[in-house]
Amino acid sequence: MTIEENGTQQCNAIAMASGNTYNENCHQQTLIMEGSLPLFDDIKLESNLTIADYGCSQGGNSIPVVNRILSRVPSGATVSLVFEDLPSNEYTSLIKLLPRLFGSYSSLKLYPSLVPKSFYESVVPSGSVDLGYTLSTIHWLKKMPLPKPPTETVAEYYDKRDSRNSAAAKEDLRDFLTLRGQEIKSGGHLVIACFGSFTKEEIAHYKDALILRHRVLFQGMETLANEGKLPLKVMERINVPIYDRSEKELFSGIDELKDTWVVDKYYRKMVHHPAYYKFLKACEDAGQNESEKIKAAKEYAGTLIDWLIAVFGDMILGWWRESGVEEAAIDGLHQEFLIRAKDLLWKEGPGGAEIPIMYTRLKRV
Ligand SMILES: C[S@@+](CC[C@H](N)C(=O)[O-])C[C@H]1O[C@@H](n2cnc3c(N)ncnc32)[C@H](O)[C@@H]1O
Repeated sequence: MTIEENGTQQCNAIAMASGNTYNENCHQQTLIMEGSLPLFDDIKLESNLTIADYGCSQGGNSIPVVNRILSRVPSGATVSLVFEDLPSNEYTSLIKLLPRLFGSYSSLKLYPSLVPKSFYESVVPSGSVDLGYTLSTIHWLKKMPLPKPPTETVAEYYDKRDSRNSAAAKEDLRDFLTLRGQEIKSGGHLVIACFGSFTKEEIAHYKDALILRHRVLFQGMETLANEGKLPLKVMERINVPIYDRSEKELFSGIDELKDTWVVDKYYRKMVHHPAYYKFLKACEDAGQNESEKIKAAKEYAGTLIDWLIAVFGDMILGWWRESGVEEAAIDGLHQEFLIRAKDLLWKEGPGGAEIPIMYTRLKRV
């Protein structure tokens, strides 16, 4: 269900694929996280400190940020660590990472807490956080948009996605910054690393990776539905509550709250999926050998689809089950779906590796 019976839009509760799958396949988000680390380095850290990660997921990219901060905290300090994500998030993987973190900082008093609440609500008491961060998260919208209309192909749906979701994204950014403005102390900081939309010039150069990867994934599903292997009604479930903001939209959202936040630092850069470098090297090694180059391109496309499945995999299987696909058929169909999506991505050429990331450090007025 995407729309509740009373007609209001349902909140987004989509979790990353469970069983540590997200942690094992989030290499591009790891590079995004690494790009944010310098933003933590010159923040003054007190000996009684609360750090909050908004949208921590399974912790693989949360703990390195905590490490970066803790390495500068004075010995003997008391540090509260707030790990926040949706209630549907798989916290077990994150919990397993904590003993090692504690072992590395025996001179500090560390108090972790897990907060299973949406970051579009208040998640910690007002004025309790010194340093907040949110990485690869705020492109997720608060509410589920309307699903793909049955009259539209996946390609048509993706052509219209941005214009459909932009108003909701504007409201969500306002809510997110307002709530964090209440939670983060005056003088405290909020570090944001978020996906940015491509400029026209960048699309010409890179292709629109953010759209391309999603589109081919769902086109893989579309081919199976058109052949009758999946019920056609699974296509009506396609509904991805995502919006990638432009730089202008990000800054005008921050500007709306200029009494609360000032931009302390900002940079934007392209972050590649690490598989792209492997692909380039394999092409170089292949020289004139075209079949080796095709093999490298297929491997690269395969990695990108696996990466996406770590984010959307559980959601897609949920749609299939709810549309009546028999449990016994799921595994086989899933394999076939992956083959189709990987093939489609490979045929589109080596796009889909780069994402423009906007890195912002806000200071609470
Ligand atoms: C792509 S992951 C990024 C995870 C992690 N920050 C990283 O850098 O790897 C996006 C995360 O945002 C979380 N998320 C999406 N909407 C959310 C919401 N409304 N409240 C809290 N977390 C949310 C998802 O559950 C997911 O864990």
